[in-house]
Amino acid sequence: MTDTHIGNGFVPSGKLQLGIFFQGVNSGTVWKSPESGSQTDFESFRRIAQTAERGLFAAFFLGEGLRLREHLGRPHALDVVGRPDAQTMLAALAAVTTRIGLVATQNTTYNDPADLAHRLSSLDLLSGGRAAWNVVTTDNAWTGANFRRGGYLDHADRYVHAEAFVTTAKRIWDSWEDGAIAETPAAPAWAAPGSARPVHHQGKHYTVDYVPRLPRSAQYRPVLFQAGDSPEGRDFAARQADVIFSAHPRLDDALDFRRDIVGRTVRAGRGANDVKIMPASEFILAATPQEALEKKDWVRSLQIGPEQAIAYLEQFWGRELQGFDPDGPLPDIDPVVEETSETRGSGFHGAKAKQLADQWRAEAMDKGLSIRQFVSARTSRGDSSFTGSYTEVADRLAEYAHTGAVDGFNISPWLIPTGLDDIVNHLVPALQERGVYPTEYAGATLRENLGLATPVRQDADTVRLQLTVGEQLL
Ligand SMILES: Cc1cc2nc3c(=O)[nH]c(=O)nc-3n(C[C@H](O)[C@H](O)[C@H](O)COP(=O)(O)O)c2cc1C
Repeated sequence: MTDTHIGNGFVPSGKLQLGIFFQGVNSGTVWKSPESGSQTDFESFRRIAQTAERGLFAAFFLGEGLRLREHLGRPHALDVVGRPDAQTMLAALAAVTTRIGLVATQNTTYNDPADLAHRLSSLDLLSGGRAAWNVVTTDNAWTGANFRRGGYLDHADRYVHAEAFVTTAKRIWDSWEDGAIAETPAAPAWAAPGSARPVHHQGKHYTVDYVPRLPRSAQYRPVLFQAGDSPEGRDFAARQADVIFSAHPRLDDALDFRRDIVGRTVRAGRGANDVKIMPASEFILAATPQEALEKKDWVRSLQIGPEQAIAYLEQFWGRELQGFDPDGPLPDIDPVVEETSETRGSGFHGAKAKQLADQWRAEAMDKGLSIRQFVSARTSRGDSSFTGSYTEVADRLAEYAHTGAVDGFNISPWLIPTGLDDIVNHLVPALQERGVYPTEYAGATLRENLGLATPVRQDADTVRLQLTVGEQLL
């Protein structure tokens, strides 16, 4: 039996929220079906955002891919392609939606706090308090080459910078007084004198001498999401984030993750319920369980076609595998073993490549899997997938709500732009019937809709008091 106890004073809300993660082309996307629309036209984004809003989704979410993934020195044109700049796209979506939150993934490794804080404030103001920032550090050294900073910052330093970055951004957002803007034309100045307080921030990592140009938004400041799963990433989220975009959707795993995050959040001096969790997930639904299983086979066959399967293995093998039959066994030749490589992309496993290949060959042989079947099973979809009839899946999700394993799910639709239609038309009403899903938006801002408290103002004193691993004021 699954252990559902969380501890540390955590109280399950019994409710779920949904988000939509528009990913661009990768191994979860069906772009070859005639039903598939454009991955880049605004019309696809508009259509799916409006469907999500009809389903009372809390958030529309965009990732950030700063560089095409590569392998064998070539762009890997089947993975994380077609991602427009998140803030530009979300600004356009703000004009055609009214309630859904707009979440931009932006990294702390190559941006600048004063500049990013201003752009996020702009999105927050123009959307009426619906903006959020998904804070990431980015994981590929070769991304740095875009910025003439190849290999910039190793893993541990990235989180130290992330903490310093976010602390600085919060000080910028918190610098304007409440009610700063004149409410009557008779007022002598548009902004009350003294309401825009300069930020003199002299830290170990960022020194900022800046008068923020924008007042607070309707939700005070953008909501902070975080995505990154290492112990350092989790501690960072426990100190700074409102919501974690997690990689733990399976119920037992989600419960373990919740316990871990609640422990870290309480140790960071925050409340047990202060950090929400929304894992990445995929839904394959139909009227009956049997139809859903058939649909899953069809979806998988389109997600991992022959080219994707071979390209996936090439990332780990570090050599051409075009001569191998995607419907045959895993390659019997060994991978190229290198300590480091800037071009082998997300699959690069350095000196462990041979060990990994041996393990995979044994596993595929054992289970009688072809290259395609093996790759299809290996890509993260397995764990994050909810396949079944609408009522079956609604029952499963209700258990997540009652145990408090998660606060919601961030759904990656495999089909654009119609991939949310059956979720909104059938799953959402089934969740509402079970009392675990909102029947209306709680408010106008994302913070209200996620049930988050108004943030505590960060000034030099609160930053000094935090004594975090991040920004130490000089
Ligand atoms: C669910 C999830 C989504 C992520 N999305 C992005 C993204 O869109 N862009 C990006 O650069 N990094 C993304 N990341 C990567 C993180 O930024 C981070 O660099 C990476 O996970 C390594 O940090 P970690 O060791 O703490 O996990 C994501 C991570 C997770 C877990």
